[in-house]
Amino acid sequence: MASETTSTVTTPASRAAIRSGTLRRYGAQAGMVAVLLVALLFPIVNGNAGDIDAVANALAFAALALGLNIVVGFAGLLDLGYAAFFAIGAYTYGILSSWQLQPAWSSFWQPFAWLDLVQKVTQGDTSVVHFTLSFWIALPLSAAVAAFFGVLFGAPTLRLRGDYLAIVTLGFGEIVPIVVRNWASLTNGAAGLNGVAPPNLFGYNFGVEITPYYYVAVAIVGLLIFVSSRLRDSRIGRAWMALRDDSIAASTAGVDLTRYKLLAFALGASFAGMTGTFYIAKLQTATPDMFMFPVSVMILVMIVLGGLGSVWGVVVGAIFLQLLQSWFLPAMSGWLHSVGNLVGSPWLQQIQLAQSIELIFGIILVVMMLYRRDGLIPATRKQKALSFEQQNAQVGESHGFRMSGIVREEGSAVPALEIKGVTVRFGGLVALKSVDLTVPPGGVLAVIGPNGSGKSTLFNVVTGLTTAESGSIRLFGEEIIGLPPHKIARKGIARTFQNLRLFTNLTVMDNVLIGQHSRLHTGPLGAVLRFPRVRAEEAKARERVIEIIANFGNRLLPRADQNVAALSYANRRRVEISRALATNPRILLLDEPTAGMNPAETLELAQQIKDLHKLGLTIIVIEHKLDVVVRLADTVVVLDHGEKIAEGKPDEVRRNEEVLRAYLGRNAQAGSAGIAA
Ligand SMILES: Nc1ncnc2c1ncn2[C@@H]1O[C@H](COP(=O)(O)OP(=O)(O)O)[C@@H](O)[C@H]1O
Ligand SMILES: [Mg+2]
Repeated sequence: MASETTSTVTTPASRAAIRSGTLRRYGAQAGMVAVLLVALLFPIVNGNAGDIDAVANALAFAALALGLNIVVGFAGLLDLGYAAFFAIGAYTYGILSSWQLQPAWSSFWQPFAWLDLVQKVTQGDTSVVHFTLSFWIALPLSAAVAAFFGVLFGAPTLRLRGDYLAIVTLGFGEIVPIVVRNWASLTNGAAGLNGVAPPNLFGYNFGVEITPYYYVAVAIVGLLIFVSSRLRDSRIGRAWMALRDDSIAASTAGVDLTRYKLLAFALGASFAGMTGTFYIAKLQTATPDMFMFPVSVMILVMIVLGGLGSVWGVVVGAIFLQLLQSWFLPAMSGWLHSVGNLVGSPWLQQIQLAQSIELIFGIILVVMMLYRRDGLIPATRKQKALSFEQQNAQVGESHGFRMSGIVREEGSAVPALEIKGVTVRFGGLVALKSVDLTVPPGGVLAVIGPNGSGKSTLFNVVTGLTTAESGSIRLFGEEIIGLPPHKIARKGIARTFQNLRLFTNLTVMDNVLIGQHSRLHTGPLGAVLRFPRVRAEEAKARERVIEIIANFGNRLLPRADQNVAALSYANRRRVEISRALATNPRILLLDEPTAGMNPAETLELAQQIKDLHKLGLTIIVIEHKLDVVVRLADTVVVLDHGEKIAEGKPDEVRRNEEVLRAYLGRNAQAGSAGIAA
């Protein structure tokens, strides 16, 4: 009987989702084959070296845009100095495959010579080393070198966000070309590296023939599109987008912010490093001017134009802007010249649109911001509204909360949570004054108190978001005070927030999946190669999400693939609770879970919290509605001005003099003041 309820709830929605998912996949595959065909046939059909060169350059910028998209689009870290990594990759290959460095030959170099990385060159009676690193080895090598610098530059910026981060990255973007210009012994300074070796494939030397470079560019962009989309649709991409949308919520859901920010910097930089190698192998020269600030800005404009976070969008944006510059604007200038000749306007006769490219970028940006903020190909798909049946489906009879994996810990001798002497100060304000609190395993504790009494601060300090001045917090006997939020989440404390903190650009499914983050293991390599183990893990995580949100019946299930921004307030609260449950918590902290719900919804949620308690979960709830508190809690703790003023059974606390004064006394005074006025 119970299983019937679930199946009627899940099946139609999930079947439709699977059907549309399959169709979309076929459509996408056909589209990709077509794009690939066009890319492969273009040089053959076109045959013009100048055009092929222009497209190869455009593809190089598409590769750069894909890299910056990981940093800015996925992880939301505004980077204004991205061209620095492009330079690092370029010079890595340039220096190791040209005559720039010629150290004296010694036997130290012999092993490198065997590996074909260097040659011994003898002039008269001196022998020097000539670096001859292969282009094909340089591609991954410069990716790795750039990734290293990505971490190096990323590390000091970890605590920064928004404007500050942008300014620091701007600084790095300026520093790198300046170092390149001034370290002449290594880079030949402003004059630039010369005689960088072209690639060589099985004895075929690319030389100045453009078509082979074009195909290398197609391969690089293809690879980076593949890597980007695999990362986006994985545990890694989800973690990036979560920290982009709300880093506080991401950390309490188990995402290690430091790690994922650095990973974004490193991977983004590696794309640029690889592209740098390609770019200067094609040019066979490199100068510091090629990597200045305007280049970083141009790549940024490309991804904004294409659609922040959208893999195909940024490729289209990059190719479009590059071709605009090298094809369309010169052609249009030509037409304008003829018009100028016709009407006899000297200004029109001389106009060179490509020289005002910055102005044109500016106009494009303004127009995009006004009319199409999500870019040419937005990262989030437009969503179909729910069908009439889906919207009107009755919420099934409450069948109790069903969720596997909750461990009954009632028998445990140590308290689930033991807070001792915790004090929190914000400047002069004491938000918590030596608070003691004990929650037995499997218990439900309610925290009440007037506004500003320190209830949310208590949750913040337990989940690691706020640092305590003193005190101790033990989770099943283990000290957790001072741990970062993601570690506390991993140890088994999950929470919701008083002012909803969801990942607003992600779907219900993805929001709840983030909760599973710390219980999954897929790393970047697994995400890209999608081993069977990774697929299995992902499928299981999704099933788990369905299991959890099915408890809210038709309220969430049919909306699993909708953006949370489209949900009602009450449903967002349910998503947040689901996300907390998805972390497999041992203790669940709910901060005013029924705020904004109507009486019927409040009752329903209270029942569900009670059901969770029956499954054995330990719960702490901050709640204003006293009937909910009485219904749920074994113990009530009352805070006032950061101090615990009472603790006991709900009924006792209700009659407590001091509590009445804290709650009503102030109201009564305020009321009489109101009357007096
Ligand atoms: N990050 C912060 N910086 C400064 N003051 C804060 C901060 N967070 C909370 N406070 C202050 O601490 C007190 C307790 O706040 P809070 O814990 O949110 O209260 P409650 O949840 O009980 O309404 C309030 O006076 C609030 O203004
Ligand atoms: Mg609060």
